[in-house]
Amino acid sequence: MSVSNEKFYVTTPIYYVNDIPHIGHVYTTVAADILAKYNRLRGRRVFFLTGVDEHGQKIERAAREKRRRPKEHADIMVDNFKNLWKRLNISNDAFIRTTDEEHKKIVQELLQKLRDAGEIEKRTYSGMYCTPCERFWTGKDIVRGNCPDCGGDVEYIEEDNYFFLMAQYQAEIIEHIKRSNYILPATRKNEVLGFLQSQPLGDLCISRPRERLSWGVPLPFDKEYITYVWFDALINYYSATKYLINSSSGRDEINWWPADYHIIGKDILTTHAVYWSAMLMALCKVEGQNFSLPKNIFAHGWWTVDGRKMSKSFGNVVDPNKIIDNYGTDALRYFLFREVPFGNDGDFSEDSLTRRINTDLANDLGNLLSRFLTMAGKYLDGTIERPASYTSTAKELATRCISEWQVVHDDSNWSQLRFSLILEHIWNMIAASNNYIARTEPWKIAKDEKGRLSDVMFDLWQALRLIALSLYPFMPDTAEKTWRQLGLKSLTGEIWNSSLSLSCPGTPAKMKPAEIFGWNWLPSYKVKVSKGEHLFNRISIEE
Ligand code: MSP
Repeated sequence: MSVSNEKFYVTTPIYYVNDIPHIGHVYTTVAADILAKYNRLRGRRVFFLTGVDEHGQKIERAAREKRRRPKEHADIMVDNFKNLWKRLNISNDAFIRTTDEEHKKIVQELLQKLRDAGEIEKRTYSGMYCTPCERFWTGKDIVRGNCPDCGGDVEYIEEDNYFFLMAQYQAEIIEHIKRSNYILPATRKNEVLGFLQSQPLGDLCISRPRERLSWGVPLPFDKEYITYVWFDALINYYSATKYLINSSSGRDEINWWPADYHIIGKDILTTHAVYWSAMLMALCKVEGQNFSLPKNIFAHGWWTVDGRKMSKSFGNVVDPNKIIDNYGTDALRYFLFREVPFGNDGDFSEDSLTRRINTDLANDLGNLLSRFLTMAGKYLDGTIERPASYTSTAKELATRCISEWQVVHDDSNWSQLRFSLILEHIWNMIAASNNYIARTEPWKIAKDEKGRLSDVMFDLWQALRLIALSLYPFMPDTAEKTWRQLGLKSLTGEIWNSSLSLSCPGTPAKMKPAEIFGWNWLPSYKVKVSKGEHLFNRISIEE
């Protein structure tokens, strides 16, 4: 691990406020949080953005059903997201709402620039329109007279509209995607390429006549039209960097755009990989490099529930608040990222969640910590010191854990977001430590080999400390509890206190990762471990 002064900007999609958050929203947001926390740990300056998408027909309709004005509805619904993110320990630096005046102003400025540069054109359009999906379909898209996305009715519409001249960017987008790791994982990259190479890309209708949709950002050059919700929404990633940066820490002196990662679900890959890329290419043409493309777009898979698509009509939508009430935040965060490789689809069930809690969390991790603390209390009165004759490199546990640690903190695993693999290797450290206890039998050597005992206990303490550090991005609360029971002060405090200086540009990094992430590290104060509450309790299957 090395310290760096680099910036790291990560985003989630902005969620529609027509509905309450479900497990799918949690998935994307926790993924972005893992990246944000990990990059802070690495000493980078992080900007983590999430927020909500408040315009468009979906929201207008949901508000009407509740007899509310759209903004009033959004104001009520937005708290469901904000409160859930608090419960899930999400560390976003900013929260954007597309109804923010500053955001709307930037959307209008960019629209005007594109219009002035001839990138937006007015045309008469006729075609099949799906109201719930808010989009036009061509004849060949329509499936048995219905919308290919939602299966609902489509209607024939003829009207004047504004078009963003997107078709001209087709070749450039293909080239960009081919050349780089822009779209991740590789399967999604191939999917977008397949789509782009098999058909001509059309221009994008970016307006809706005001009489059909009034809830949105008016086009600055024609007030009779409202901006298409996706055109407004995608700009959030850029607009936030212009008005939502906290100036107190000197972060506003950094140019945060472009984003390092947009984390999204596979269903919204086209809008990001194609529309957003084309929009930025056009803006780049008009304005220069300030609008370069994001570095990576990662599209994750979808969760089914007990083998079925999650939907209101099946009544199987998983309410994250209930899962947190019953199993806790960290168990949920762990399950989502251990159960399936990030990128693949997964199946959510309380049975598999319970299995993971009982075996991985309560048994492997929880027991390891609790056995260690009991022994440390009993044989060493809780005191952990580096033994006088200690040589860590010769120790098998150190060797094993350090080689796992290298995989856990490997740059390519992190840049490809291989979360489940990283967790597997953290669990290898846990298993190695459990085996070490079984083999060294500290309760036996406590009787007549005090010298060896303190070596063994020091090694176990180091292993647990590095396990806690590695777990932190995934299970922040568990990591913090472990850290404190190991006799250390706050984990984030220990790391951040020194790294906070990173938020002041020009100050050299003061963090000491080589030490704190190294096997031999001990804090400057005396370490006395103390057994606290269990990390995880087993859940009886009957429950
Ligand atoms: N508002 C747009 C995004 C605009 S971004 C500029 C939107 N919002 S959404 O509320 O519908 O959902 C967003 C995210 O939830 C997507 O990333 C989507 O993939 C994710 N999920 C919705 N259902 C899901 C599952 N069943 N499983 C996993 N993720 C899913 O789209």
